[in-house]
Order: sequence, then structure tokens, then C-alpha cells
Amino acid sequence: MESTLFIIILLSALSFVSSQSQYVPNRYFINCGSNSDTDFTGKTFTGDENPPTFSVFGGRKAENNNSTSEIYKTARVFTQKSWYELEADSDNTFVMVNLHFSPFSYNKIELSTSKFNVSVSGFSLLSNFNVGNSTVIKNFIIPIGTKRKFRIVFTPSSGSSPAFVNAIEAFTTPPQLFKRGDTLNHISPLGRDGEMNNISSSYAFIPVYRINVGGDRIDVDRDVLRRNWIPDDEFIVNNESAKTVKPFDGALTYKEDFATRYDAPDSVYKTAKQLNGNSSANNNVTWTFGVKKNTMFLVRVHICDIITTGLNNSDDEFNLFIYRNYSLVINPGEVVQAVQVPFYFDFVVDSVESGFVNVSIGAVSSNNTQPVLLNGLEIMELLRNSGVVDPWNNGKSGSKKVYVVVGCVVGSVVIVLLIGVFIGFKYRKAKPAFGTKTESNTVPSHGQSSYMSMNFDFTVNESSQIPNLNLNLRFPFADIVQVTNNFDEKLVIGKGGFGKVYRGTLRDGKSVAVKRAETGHSQGRPEFVKEIMVLSKIQHQHLVSFIGYCDENSEMILVFEYMEKGTLQEHLYDMKKDDEKLPWSQRLEICISAAQGLHYLHTGLNEPIIHRDVKSTNILLNENYTAKVADFGISRLDNSDEGEMDIKGSFGYFDPEYITCLKLTHKSDVYSFGVVLLEVLCARKALDTKLPSEEQNLADWGIKQIKNGMEEKIIDPYLVDKINPNSLRIYLETVEKCLKSTGDERPSMYDVLWGLEYALKHQQKVVGKEPCEDSTVTASLQSIPIFDHLPSNYEDNEYEVNDSSVSSFPSESQVFSQLKINEPR
Ligand SMILES: *[C@@H]1O[C@H](CO)[C@@H](O)[C@H](O)[C@H]1NC(C)=O
Ligand SMILES: *[C@@H]1O[C@H](CO)[C@@H](O)[C@H](O)[C@H]1NC(C)=O
Ligand SMILES: *[C@@H]1O[C@H](CO)[C@@H](O)[C@H](O)[C@H]1NC(C)=O
Ligand SMILES: *[C@@H]1O[C@H](CO)[C@@H](O)[C@H](O)[C@H]1NC(C)=O
Ligand SMILES: *[C@@H]1O[C@H](CO)[C@@H](O)[C@H](O)[C@H]1NC(C)=O
Ligand SMILES: *[C@@H]1O[C@H](CO)[C@@H](O)[C@H](O)[C@H]1NC(C)=O
Ligand SMILES: *[C@@H]1O[C@H](CO)[C@@H](O)[C@H](O)[C@H]1NC(C)=O
Ligand SMILES: *[C@@H]1O[C@H](CO)[C@@H](O)[C@H](O)[C@H]1NC(C)=O
Ligand SMILES: *[C@@H]1O[C@H](CO)[C@@H](O)[C@H](O)[C@H]1NC(C)=O
Ligand SMILES: *[C@@H]1O[C@H](CO)[C@@H](O)[C@H](O)[C@H]1NC(C)=O
Ligand SMILES: *[C@@H]1O[C@H](CO)[C@@H](O)[C@H](O)[C@H]1NC(C)=O
Ligand SMILES: *[C@@H]1O[C@H](CO)[C@@H](O)[C@H](O)[C@H]1NC(C)=O
Repeated sequence: MESTLFIIILLSALSFVSSQSQYVPNRYFINCGSNSDTDFTGKTFTGDENPPTFSVFGGRKAENNNSTSEIYKTARVFTQKSWYELEADSDNTFVMVNLHFSPFSYNKIELSTSKFNVSVSGFSLLSNFNVGNSTVIKNFIIPIGTKRKFRIVFTPSSGSSPAFVNAIEAFTTPPQLFKRGDTLNHISPLGRDGEMNNISSSYAFIPVYRINVGGDRIDVDRDVLRRNWIPDDEFIVNNESAKTVKPFDGALTYKEDFATRYDAPDSVYKTAKQLNGNSSANNNVTWTFGVKKNTMFLVRVHICDIITTGLNNSDDEFNLFIYRNYSLVINPGEVVQAVQVPFYFDFVVDSVESGFVNVSIGAVSSNNTQPVLLNGLEIMELLRNSGVVDPWNNGKSGSKKVYVVVGCVVGSVVIVLLIGVFIGFKYRKAKPAFGTKTESNTVPSHGQSSYMSMNFDFTVNESSQIPNLNLNLRFPFADIVQVTNNFDEKLVIGKGGFGKVYRGTLRDGKSVAVKRAETGHSQGRPEFVKEIMVLSKIQHQHLVSFIGYCDENSEMILVFEYMEKGTLQEHLYDMKKDDEKLPWSQRLEICISAAQGLHYLHTGLNEPIIHRDVKSTNILLNENYTAKVADFGISRLDNSDEGEMDIKGSFGYFDPEYITCLKLTHKSDVYSFGVVLLEVLCARKALDTKLPSEEQNLADWGIKQIKNGMEEKIIDPYLVDKINPNSLRIYLETVEKCLKSTGDERPSMYDVLWGLEYALKHQQKVVGKEPCEDSTVTASLQSIPIFDHLPSNYEDNEYEVNDSSVSSFPSESQVFSQLKINEPR
């Protein structure tokens, strides 16, 4: 009998999704004229032939097999007025629209010569637009009113001069990108000319220049808002007048009412140019930008004093000039009352008869010690609403399909998130091939997982045979019975939805953890086989060793090395009475070991593995307090196909990007590991529902405190005054990076490892005075031969072990060759 089971999970009021750590644009990325999805610059562009989440009225698909770029191989061509209908994520916000045009020859018409108009919500974005022969990407920022639906309308000038588009990006920006109701100075070459109000409700913005002063080009995939930033060199009038500032390598502080992390990428604020040589009063640096005449621009000047280290000399200031006649004295320390706080000034600049916008910085007086600097510049043309009404009434042509999808959530403090997951399970005739697991703690774990876990798999593997398994690892059932004293209840050390974990003793006296799937309720046979195949290929000193399995009598049993000291969590807060609190250096070593294990999973294997359930109960400690990562066997291979919908993880540790977009990468592990790092520092649960709602989610709460410089509020009281300040600073920076809202911004496990090693180095420098702590310090630095961890009776067997996995990975020298104390990276 074939039946289908639907499970709907409604997770509501997940207060851990806060707006601060959340913004990721997830819609719309459209591959026009195509029925397939394509990855491009870090996003997946959905084909618009059968659009699932938006609608298209008119146009037909065209192909250009000559294009080298997959996304530009197709386009939608419009011979009459046609449009895409999309929806913003909320009212009164802005959408960023990027239109990609890559011309080719369509039905003997050269699209490079055709002329057309494009409008959105009454803004004529492009008029009589001609692409020419090159690929062009046009960027716009458009205010959206109370009506959230908007249309991108293409109007060809004639049937023989069709409009076309190859790709569309249209996503809602964070709402604070432009402040509403602000009054801005209106400036022309003659000087200041009054003020302008409410720019952001009556104009659309067409970015003309985005400049990363003193820095490198930043491509769309390195900016959450998918903006391009270019270096300033070609715009500087006299390059001898400026010198590049040493890039800032610390963490910026974002303060309320000033720039947010979305106004410009960190790397814009972390680089700058400053006035060269002596600050004589009539010395200045000028940048000049060619622009349209008689046009109004929004000029946004990004400043962050990354040079001054303290709030000294707070009377000092410098001049910002727009053209020659307007100047503003700026004292960054006074503006933001701190250093390394990004902020910006907006001006409305009218080019009138000048074909340039000029911006200069200069010293106020030669005695000033305030650095004269500039970090970034944006110049956007202001486009007034032309009042052209969208064709709302004649929407009868074309089929109309609008489905609502779960979007990435941008919003206010607490968001109610609703995830409906429909999962179809197909059952075999005789017996269920597998069931659901409500508990993913499938590896020896000492104590229960405190968090609800989800784990749904619905790939059905046809074969339930165990193919090509390493038979050397196979235990006879009789041996297992003996090892566990016939599954003596007294030996149970862990329990979960999957069954029980027993402590056992091999004949040679070696302790093992025996995980036995409960009959009738278990993971499926195919998963069991997959797990064995994966586990038998992995050997690493910081991953819990797989010793063997038993599949006799339809048993599904896995044998692992026994980890004497249990989970990391038990040593942080779920303490047994006689346990001592772990000193800081030892906590760092444990984190370093776990990071090495994860780094190995991510990069050390032919098929990379994402752990997907990194948490403090999956980091186990052996009798020497050496940490090893557990529960990676059923982890998904990084390259497994996308059709597999499969949620795994634990509340409190979920990568926000994974939750909202089901986008799973190794950076999801980095996020979860960041949460573990916070747990280690704070000795607090990742999710503690007994606390006030804003404090429940450790990641959100912790990051907020760190950003506000209030980390002492969250640190484990036991550690207060025992951490070297530099060690703490580096550690906090690492945590912050791991917990970035998008995977792209997060470091790799290798970088995390590096940060932790660096934090440990600093701690060891001071700890030398305290021999009791120092004694444990070298443990993680020793290279422990992997075979020491295997039971002796397996030593002679032929293992198929990857060469690189035998040595420690990465090697100590790899990490330390880059590590020079006192010289931050
Ligand atoms: C592809 O290239 C060939 C030769 O370069 C040209 O004749 C043809 O028109 C091109 N096709 C398109 C679709 O541009
Ligand atoms: C482009 O290639 C596809 C398959 O490779 C083919 O079906 C299609 O006809 C080609 N289109 C043109 C315009 O050559
Ligand atoms: C594009 O290039 C073709 C020749 O390659 C030329 O004939 C045509 O005029 C060019 N179009 C434009 C708009 O420059
Ligand atoms: C395109 O826009 C221009 C300027 O707004 C306008 O004069 C022209 O009539 C428009 N063309 C079409 C085909 O609507
Ligand atoms: C600016 O907007 C605010 C509210 O949006 C409104 O009260 C005010 O009158 C507007 N000012 C101008 C000059 O339009
Ligand atoms: C600055 O303003 C004065 C009048 O106040 C004007 O004469 C002069 O031309 C202006 N400078 C520039 C560069 O336009
Ligand atoms: C100024 O530009 C010239 C030519 O582009 C270059 O050779 C020189 O090194 C630059 N000087 C500075 C200080 O950047
Ligand atoms: C400082 O500036 C003054 C005036 O521009 C100049 O005469 C002097 O040589 C400069 N000194 C140095 C060390 O560059
Ligand atoms: C600068 O500030 C630091 C502390 O913020 C203080 O120790 C130092 O004396 C100050 N230096 C000067 C020159 O004011
Ligand atoms: C802007 O700078 C350019 C290049 O230095 C200069 O030619 C132009 O006169 C300047 N314009 C104004 C209004 O200052
Ligand atoms: C820059 O300095 C020069 C003199 O060094 C001066 O003539 C010019 O007006 C200054 N430009 C601005 C924008 O202040
Ligand atoms: C600059 O310093 C000199 C001597 O150190 C002093 O006489 C002069 O008043 C100072 N100027 C300013 C603007 O502080």
C-alpha cells in the first residue's frame, strides 16, 4: 500500500530571528527567457518561463548561443509593451533594481541597435535606451509606497526595434538606506542654495559612481546589497596630495543614528585616503567626477576615522568641500563620540552648467592632528517621478500566476517566522523504509540534547544492501552483545529518538560507545549504509573515531571511540558537582580542536562535508580533555543534489540564511560554530527560553552586547579578569565574523582557526605567570598520531585512510607560519 505522509511544521515566534542579523536579499533574481536556473555572482537566477514567485506579461524568449556567460545566453524580447510584476517585502521601502542587457542578434535584428523605454512605478528609468555593443548593467533604487506590488515595464519604440532584458535583480533594501523626512543641503558650484526635504519619497536614485577611496574594487558578490564599488585613483586630481591609509583590520563599531552595516560594506569604511604631508591650511585633496549638466545628484560622503586610536584632540576638525564655494567642517570624534564608527553625510548637489561634481578634503589649520580623510563616495542621479502610470488596467493578456513564497525576512525587532515544510514520505510495501527522526543526536552523546532538533530526509535509496563496505569494520552481533553486557541498561550513556547509546568495553579493554538503532523506529537502512560509508572514510584526530558497525539480524549498530569527559556543554554550564570550571586557555584549545575537525570536514576530503548540527553537545572531550567533533556521519555531502529537501540542526544554532532561504553551505557550520564560541565565552545556553525574550537567543543577544561594547555583561563570571584583553578582543572579532548574517561575509573555518590560535597565543603570553593553567596549554599543539586512537586489534587491518587525514589538518606549521605575534593580520 502506497501512502504519502505530509508533515507540516509550524515554527512560530522564533524570536531569534532579529532584523539586525538578518538582511539577505533573496528575491527576485530572474534569468530572463530561460526555463532553467543559473548561478551568477553568488545568487541563483530563476528561469522566467514558468515563474514560481512572480509573473511575466508578454515577451518571448530568445537565445544567444554565442555568449560565454550562462546567464546571458537567454533573454526575453518584447515587441510590444510588456512587464514583470513583482512585490516588495514591505510598505514604504526601496527596491534595488539591476537590469542586465547583453545584446545579440535576434531574428536578424541587432538588439544592440534597438531603442526602448523602461519604467517602474512612474519612474522613467531608461528613455530611448540603446545598449550598444557591450553588456550593460543598469542599477536603480526605487521608492515603494503603500502599494507593494510594482511592475518593470518595457516599451519598445517599434516592433522592429524590440526591447529586451537578459536578467533582472529586484530586491527590497533595508528600509533605513535612505532616511525619510531628512533635510539636506542643496549645493551648486556657486555655493549652498537652500535645503531640500523628503528626497527619498519623491525621487528614485540612479547610482553613477560608487567609490571605495583608498581601497580595492568591490564586486557585487562581496556587498550584501550587490553594489559595485571601484577605487578612486582615476578621479583624484593631484594624486601627490593624498596617501593611502593603512587599512583598518579591526572591527568597526556601528552606532545607532549613524551608518548601518548596509550603507556600505565594511571594506569601504576600513580603507581611506588622507591628506599627504603637512596639513597646511591651503592643502587639499580633490576628486572630480564627470556628470550630466543641469542634473541633481545625491552625494553621499562616507567617513570613518580609522586612524585615530583614542578620543584625544577632540577639538580638531577638517574641511569637506563640495566644489569650491561650499565647505563643512567635520570632527569625526565629535560627530560620533567614538572612533572607528562609520557615518556619512548626504548632500543634494546640482551640477547646473558644470559637467563635474568635485569633492575635496582639506585641513583647517596646520596645527591640527585630526587626520584629514575620506573613505567612500556615492553619487546618484535623482530621478523625479514622471507620473507615467503603470499599466494596471490592461493586465488581461498573459497568464497571471502569483504565488507567495517564504521570503528572507527583513523587519523589526521580533519576527514571527512561519515555516511550512511539506515532506512526502514514500513507504515501501512491506515495511517503512525509514521514519522520521525528531532527535538528531545520533552519535554517542553523553546526556540529552537540550534543544529540539529537526531532521527530515526523503531520498529513497533503492538499494538496501550494504555495498562495498569495509568488512574489516564489521562486528559480529555476538561481539556487540558481549561488549555491552547484553545491552545492560546500566551502561546506557545516551538516549534519543534513534535509540540508545551504551558504554562498552572491547576485549582489549578499550572503551567504546555503541549506538544501537531502536528496531521499528530508526533511521532508514539507506541512511545507515551512507553513514557507514562516510564514517569509514574519515579519520581525524579531532573527529570522534568510528570503530565499526554491525548490520546482522537487521540491527543497525555503530561503534565509536568512547569520550570519557562527555560533552563540551557539560563543562560549561550543565556541570556535574565535582567538575571544575575550565580555564580560558583550555576553552580556547577545545575550540581550536573542534575548529580543526570542522575544517577537515569542509576541506580535507574529496567530497566535502557540511556538519549541519554544530553545537556544544556535539563536541565531546576525551579523558585528556581533547575535543573531538561528533555526529558528522549523517551530515550531507556538500555537493549532493538540490532536490533533496532536508532540514537538520538545532534551535539557537541555525544559520539565519539557511532558515530563510534553505541555502546550505559550509558557512552554515561557521555560523553555528560562532554560537558555540559564544557559549564557551558566556557559559550560557544557545537558546534559553527562561530568559526575557530579547536575551533568549544567545547569538543575537551576544552580538548586540559586543557591538555595544558591553561584552562584560555576557562573559562567564568565572572568566572575568582572567582573559587577556587582546585575546578577548581577537576572540570577539572572530565570533562577530562567524555570526555575520550572510555566509559570504563569514570567514572560512581555516580563518576561524587562525583567529582562535591567535587568541590563544595572546592568552599564553600572560598565563606564563600562572603555572597551573599553563600546564595544559600544549596539549592541542602536539600532533597526535591518529592510530593511537584506534583499538589495538584494528591496527593491523588495512584501512582505507586518506593520506591527508592521517596527519593533523591543517598542520601546525601551516597555521603558525602566518602567525606573528603583535602583527595582526
Ligand atoms: C553568433 O556568432 C556568429 C558568428 O560570429 C554570428 O553569425 C551569429 O549571428 C551570432 N549569433 C547570435 C545569436 O548573436
Ligand atoms: C542554441 O543551442 C541550443 C542547444 O544547444 C539549441 O537547441 C538552439 O537551437 C540553439 N539556438 C540558436 C539560436 O542557435
Ligand atoms: C555593433 O557592432 C557592429 C559590428 O560588430 C556594428 O555594425 C554596429 O554598428 C555596432 N553597434 C553599435 C550600436 O555600436
Ligand atoms: C520613451 O520615453 C521618452 C521620454 O520619456 C518618450 O518621449 C517616448 O515617447 C517614449 N517612447 C515610447 C515608445 O513610449
Ligand atoms: C516630508 O514628509 C513628511 C512626512 O513624510 C511630511 O510631514 C512633510 O510635510 C514633508 N515635507 C515636505 C517639504 O514635503
Ligand atoms: C563662488 O561664489 C562666488 C559668489 O559668491 C562666485 O563669484 C564664484 O564664481 C563661485 N565659485 C565658483 C567656483 O563658482
Ligand atoms: C600618481 O599617479 C602616477 C601616474 O598614474 C603614478 O605613477 C604615481 O605613483 C601616483 N602617485 C601617488 C602618490 O599615488
Ligand atoms: C609644509 O607646507 C608648507 C606650505 O605648503 C611648505 O612650505 C613646507 O615645505 C611643507 N613642509 C614639508 C615638510 O612638507
Ligand atoms: C589620549 O587618550 C588616552 C586615553 O584615551 C590617554 O591615556 C592619553 O593620555 C591621551 N593622550 C593625549 C595626548 O591626550
Ligand atoms: C572641478 O574640477 C575640475 C577638474 O579639476 C575643474 O576643471 C572644474 O573647474 C571644477 N569645477 C568646479 C565647479 O569647481
Ligand atoms: C585647494 O588648495 C588650493 C591651494 O593649494 C586652492 O587654490 C584651492 O582653492 C583649494 N580647493 C578647495 C576645493 O579648497
Ligand atoms: C598653531 O601653533 C602655533 C605655535 O605652536 C600657535 O602660535 C598658533 O596659534 C596655533 N594655531 C592654531 C590655529 O591653533
